Amino acid sequence: MTTTASRPAVEIRDLHKSFGPLEVLKGIDFEVGHGEVVCVIGPSGSGKSTLLRCVNLLEEPTAGKIWVNGTEMTDPDVEIDSVRRGIGMVFQSFNLFPHLTVLDNLTIAQRRVLKRGRAEAERIARDNLARVGLTDKADAYPAQLSGGQQQRAAIARSLSMDPKLMLFDEPTSALDPELVGDVLTVMRQLAEDGMTMMVVTHEMAFARDVADRVVFMDGGVVVEQGPPQEVLGAPQHERTRSFLSRVLDPTHVAQLGQPGQSAEPPASPSLPVDDRHHI
Ligand SMILES: Nc1ncnc2c1ncn2[C@@H]1O[C@H](COP(=O)(O)OP(=O)(O)OP(=O)(O)O)[C@@H](O)[C@H]1O
Ligand SMILES: [Mg+2]
Repeated sequence: MTTTASRPAVEIRDLHKSFGPLEVLKGIDFEVGHGEVVCVIGPSGSGKSTLLRCVNLLEEPTAGKIWVNGTEMTDPDVEIDSVRRGIGMVFQSFNLFPHLTVLDNLTIAQRRVLKRGRAEAERIARDNLARVGLTDKADAYPAQLSGGQQQRAAIARSLSMDPKLMLFDEPTSALDPELVGDVLTVMRQLAEDGMTMMVVTHEMAFARDVADRVVFMDGGVVVEQGPPQEVLGAPQHERTRSFLSRVLDPTHVAQLGQPGQSAEPPASPSLPVDDRHHI
């Protein structure tokens, strides 16, 4: 097992994944640089979650290679638990322990997995609660929090494990619309702080404003990828254009800029995005 700091944070080469006869990932190649924010977009069933889950081996690839921070995840001898420790994962559902306070939710893995003492774990937990704006919820139980607060607590829990890479799978799609903004604000801050992030999202305004690179997937392949202003503003492929026209309010597609146009995207992050992602 070799570890080379100069390698990208995530490197994916010719990744294939099948579930029985169904080939879901059909040869995926891409990289995520250190400190880079990559947003993965695409229609329902295109393989976005499967791709993300392959990165920390929650799904075992059928073929291909994946390196995370220089360690080959697909090496049969990989010490998977130790590599996974450096990868935070935030799902649509928050998976907080309902019988533990927020503080205890944030300290339990630190203590059991990282063997931190109570005082240190609590200090780190409180620092991360402050980071996500939940200082006053340390002693609350998850059921006493809104969905957005629970998701921010889940992010703080991940951060308390000192991840080098954060994977997000539609972290806001289970939230009421008015709760989405606070979670995205936390994610923006994380990006500004230099966290390496791979984010599956249908929040196009977030992708446009925060991503260094947008990857559009369809049918188990990467159709196109590049800076958000190119992929979202001037997509080269018909499949990308057609997807964007379905997920964006048609009256606002023009604001992202169509091929041949030089329309500046609006500075505000309030680009309306409807929920027709699941088509
Ligand atoms: N464990 C599994 N067993 C069998 N098929 C699966 C499994 N997980 C995913 N699939 C199939 O793989 C395909 C891709 O699923 P995936 O969840 O990766 O899509 P997605 O792009 O994340 O979609 P969505 O936007 O709806 O979340 C789908 O056809 C799905 O039914
Ligand atoms: Mg998914």
